[in-house]
Amino acid sequence: MNIRVIYHSSKSGNTQKLAKAIAEELGVRAERVGKDSIVFAQPVDLLFVGDGIYWAKPHRITRRFFEELDPAPIKNAAVFATYGNQFKIGDDLKKLLQGKGINVVGEPFTCKGASVGTKNQGRPDETDLQNVRAFAQQMAALVK
Ligand SMILES: Cc1cc2nc3c(=O)[nH]c(=O)nc-3n(C[C@H](O)[C@H](O)[C@H](O)COP(=O)(O)O)c2cc1C
Repeated sequence: MNIRVIYHSSKSGNTQKLAKAIAEELGVRAERVGKDSIVFAQPVDLLFVGDGIYWAKPHRITRRFFEELDPAPIKNAAVFATYGNQFKIGDDLKKLLQGKGINVVGEPFTCKGASVGTKNQGRPDETDLQNVRAFAQQMAALVK
């Protein structure tokens, strides 16, 4: 099964922590949108897509990536995200992918991320990382 993990994360690195935990759990590499060269040369059975929320939206790097993406190789996707207080980012990302005609499996995984002006210090924490690892296995099992 071809599984890929892509994410955007700002300097605070909260979403990157989730991306790395998912990737490690499934034995793949986490690829950073806007930094790594991300090409889908082979069909992807499951694409994990992660982001934070910035000014109530997915980051423009993520939005631009999906605007330009040919969705044909992506068979399924699963969403993960971190937020200050707006967990709607999970559904925002899900809709972004569905708008490209990509099938999204399961429900988005979201957790709080440390951010100025919130009480989210230390998040994602060990429990969040354990939970996202379980999520990774559950999503992979859905597309087997
Ligand atoms: C510039 C900026 C704008 C943000 N805007 C929002 C927002 O509109 N709603 C929200 O819930 N959190 C907001 N946050 C908090 C981030 O979504 C949160 O810290 C997230 O974990 C960041 O992920 P990252 O560290 O992977 O970039 C914002 C953070 C930054 C730095």
